[in-house]
Amino acid sequence: MRKALRLATKGLGKTHPNPYVGCVLVCRDELVGQGYHKAFGKAHAEVEAIEDAKRRLGASFDKCQVLTLYCTLEPCNHFGKTAPCTEIILKHSPPIRRVVIGTLDPNPLVSGKGVERLSRAGLDVSLGVLSRSCFQVNEDYFQWVRTRLPRVVLKAAVSLDGKIAAPDGSSKWISSKHGLSFAHELRLRADAILVGVETVIADNPRLTARDALGRVRKKPIRVLLDSHLRVPLDASIVADEDASKTWVFCSSEHDSARKEALLARGVSVFVAAGNSAVGGVDLGDVLRVLGSKEVVNILVEGGSRVLTSFILSGRYDTLYLNMAPKLIGMHGVPFIQETGVRSIEDALSLELAGIRRNGPDILIVLKKANPPCSQG
Ligand SMILES: NC(=O)c1ccc[n+]([C@@H]2O[C@H](COP(=O)([O-])OP(=O)(O)OC[C@H]3O[C@@H](n4cnc5c(N)ncnc54)[C@H](OP(=O)(O)O)[C@@H]3O)[C@@H](O)[C@H]2O)c1
Repeated sequence: MRKALRLATKGLGKTHPNPYVGCVLVCRDELVGQGYHKAFGKAHAEVEAIEDAKRRLGASFDKCQVLTLYCTLEPCNHFGKTAPCTEIILKHSPPIRRVVIGTLDPNPLVSGKGVERLSRAGLDVSLGVLSRSCFQVNEDYFQWVRTRLPRVVLKAAVSLDGKIAAPDGSSKWISSKHGLSFAHELRLRADAILVGVETVIADNPRLTARDALGRVRKKPIRVLLDSHLRVPLDASIVADEDASKTWVFCSSEHDSARKEALLARGVSVFVAAGNSAVGGVDLGDVLRVLGSKEVVNILVEGGSRVLTSFILSGRYDTLYLNMAPKLIGMHGVPFIQETGVRSIEDALSLELAGIRRNGPDILIVLKKANPPCSQG
C-alpha cells in the first residue's frame, strides 16, 4: 500500500477534478504490476496496474494462482469517462482474488458500492489499510465532495519581522530560491491561485507554476478580488494569451465599461456580494462559485489585506509561511493587517503543524486551530 501511495502522489496537480489514486498488483509477495491515475479522462489506476501486469507477465498472467490488488482508494462502480473499475477487476478474476483498499471514496456515486460489488462477486476485500495516509493524499478532494467548497491554502513569504513587502511595496524577492521553488510546488498542486488587486498592481504576477529555469509547468485558474475592476488592462493576468483562465470577482459597484473591456479579452467576471466586515467582496460567495466550478483547492498568495480577510473569516485550512532571515522594519507591509485584537487573551491562535529549514529560510506550516470545546 505504501508503494501504491507513492504512485498516487505522482498525479499531484494533474488529475483535477478527480482524486489521486495509486494501485499495485502482487503475486506471492512479488510486485507484478503498478499504475496511477495520470490525468482526468485517462485510465484509472487499477486499469493501469492490471495492464502493466499483463504486459510484464504475458501468458503467465492468467496462470497466477492468486493476485492481490492494492488500491489507495475504493474502485469505482459507475460509468464516468471510463468503464467501472470493479467490472474490469472482476473481468480479471481469477487470477485477482483479493482486493486491499486504503479508504472509501466519499463520492456518493461510489461510496461503499465498489466494496459491495467486489465482495458480492466473491472477492476477498479488506478495507482501511494505511487509511490515514490514503485519506490525507486526497484531503482536498474529500472536503470538496463533502462541502462543494474548495480547500484553501494560504501562503506568504515573510521577513523575520513579519513583513511581506518593503515600504515601497517591493517584495521580489523576500524568499531565497528555495522558498521560491517551494511556492511553485504549491502552485503546481493548486487548481486556482487567488490574489488581491493591489498585488497585481504592485507585482504584475503571472501566477503560473514554473521550474527553476522559468519553464511553465502548469497554468492554474487565476482568481482576482477586485471590487471596482481597478486591475490595469495591461496586467499579465488579463492581457496574456491565457486571459480566459482569469476569473475576476467584483462588487455590484463595478465600472461597467471596464467589465466590458475585461470580457472582451476573454476574462470571466463574477459579481459577488460585499464583505461587510473588512470591505471588498464576500469570500463565502467567492468560494461557493469556485466550488461550483469544480475548483477543488485554491492557493491564496496575498497580499496582506486578502490574507487578513481569509484569516479573520476562518476560511482557510493551512497557512504556509516561508520566513527569510531578513529584517524590513516598521514601515514595511505587515503580513497581517488590523485584527481587532486588543488584549493578549484575544490573540488569534493557530496550530503549529510543522516547521523545517528551507535553504536559508524557515518554512512554518500552520493549521487553523479548532475552536475550544464549549462543553468544558
Ligand atoms: N511576500 C509575499 O508573499 C507577498 C505576496 C503577495 C503580495 N505581496 C505584496 O503585498 C502588497 C499588496 O498587499 P495589499 O494588502 O496592499 O493588497 P492585496 O491584499 O493584494 O489587495 C487588497 C485589495 O483587494 C481587494 N479586495 C476585494 N475583496 C477583498 C477581500 N474580501 N479582502 C481583502 N481585499 C479584497 C480590495 O480592493 P477593492 O476594495 O478595490 O476591491 C483590497 O484593497 C504588495 O506590496 C505585494 O508586493 C507580498
